[in-house]
Amino acid sequence: MSKNIGGKVIVITGASSGLGQAAARFLSGEGATVVLGARRVERIETLARELTAHGGKALAVRTDVTQRDQVRNLVDVAVQTCGRIDVLINNAGLMPHSPIERLKVDEWDRMVDVNIKGVLYGIAAAMPHMVRQKSGHIVNVSSVAGHKVTPAGAVYAATKHAVRALSEGLRQEVKAYNIRTTVISPGAVATELADSITEADISENIHKFYAEFAIPAESFARAVAFAISQPEDVDVNEILFRPTRQVL
Ligand SMILES: NC(=O)c1ccc[n+]([C@@H]2O[C@H](COP(=O)([O-])OP(=O)(O)OC[C@H]3O[C@@H](n4cnc5c(N)ncnc54)[C@H](OP(=O)(O)O)[C@@H]3O)[C@@H](O)[C@H]2O)c1
Repeated sequence: MSKNIGGKVIVITGASSGLGQAAARFLSGEGATVVLGARRVERIETLARELTAHGGKALAVRTDVTQRDQVRNLVDVAVQTCGRIDVLINNAGLMPHSPIERLKVDEWDRMVDVNIKGVLYGIAAAMPHMVRQKSGHIVNVSSVAGHKVTPAGAVYAATKHAVRALSEGLRQEVKAYNIRTTVISPGAVATELADSITEADISENIHKFYAEFAIPAESFARAVAFAISQPEDVDVNEILFRPTRQVL
């Protein structure tokens, strides 16, 4: 059990696959109680059963992060059931890349709703509890795309730049409440993320790129654990990691 993870109550959005699922498994293995949110409730219920069978404590709560009430409910259930919330990982996201000229406006809307507003709703749900507790840790998931913009990735990159800007402002504002903030920016990690791309040519390119370069989701889980496991007076604010072979 890692120092400063065991016994913590950790809420994770987007826990039904990819990075969120890997983080849930890893942190549960380190002794945290994990509260899992996602829309595909059967997946998070199965994961919660798996973690419980291995001696962990886990709870699944159906959550669509575009619905403010559902995000508040996810956090409130964690606090009601476990007595507190120590960490919120705002992880849910999607990446339907396309060139702007193809005007996939509905997909732009979804990216703004999930990748930006979902994170804001998470912060809004957790803040009152963390302020009252005078402790807490908010982990937001950005991306290498929060640092670099690529063709067909402009809107996604805009949402991930927004997550970084938001995280930096949050960091400065919550010091008085003893709340820590971390923004994690992964490079290519093998998950279902590229499946949200609906344009056939872009999807083919990105899937090829991921097949060649992507690293396992445990890389993200270890980065999260590193930030959380620091002593309470250490605030790891930014982590950017890539596959060793990824140039961009
Ligand atoms: N994989 C990478 O290379 C990479 C790199 C940089 C950043 N990221 C970021 O990492 C985060 C996780 O992505 P991933 O790679 O793990 O992709 P993934 O395997 O596709 O997982 C995405 C997760 O987000 C959830 N989600 C999507 N829309 C949601 C909504 N409206 N409400 C609640 N949950 C929702 C999904 O759950 P449901 O569908 O069940 O709701 C799923 O659990 C995203 O923010 C992504 O931008 C990933």
